[in-house]
Amino acid sequence: MALLDILEFPDPRLRTVAVEVAPEDFTPAFQTLLDNMFETMYAAPGIGLAASQVDVHKRFMVIDVSEGHDDRHVFINPRIISREGTQVCQEGCLSVPGISADVTRAEKIRVAALDRHGRPFELDADGLFAVCIQHEMDHLDGKLFVDYLSPLKRDMVKRKLAKSRRAVAA
Ligand code: NI
Repeated sequence: MALLDILEFPDPRLRTVAVEVAPEDFTPAFQTLLDNMFETMYAAPGIGLAASQVDVHKRFMVIDVSEGHDDRHVFINPRIISREGTQVCQEGCLSVPGISADVTRAEKIRVAALDRHGRPFELDADGLFAVCIQHEMDHLDGKLFVDYLSPLKRDMVKRKLAKSRRAVAA
């Protein structure tokens, strides 16, 4: 097991649009990467981590919104096939540390994806789980939750992060 480095806003690599995972990508190394992503996410601590955040620009992500860290979900090449309603949730992101903001998303979604062994599945999600899936899928398209904020607020976030990084460096 190894902890991975998480890219932080405004790193331009977070803006990369990820490509589909191909059948030949399901290697033992890929399984190890998924396990390392779970470990990295739990250690952070966070409830979701997209491959983009660990500088792997392919369409997959890991999620566990349970308190006991015992409800692991892997989504590979995820697609939202239906959405219903709206909800507003205060979101944070491991790539934008220390910042949170309200984002409006679909309340309920149905997702089609492949599991870690390449088997297709569909599932219904609502509440926090649905928020997290939509948040991580944004990462795969190079989008961050701060993009939903006004430009003024986003600049504030950028300045605040730059300041905290200077503090750590000192
Ligand atoms: Ni995030």
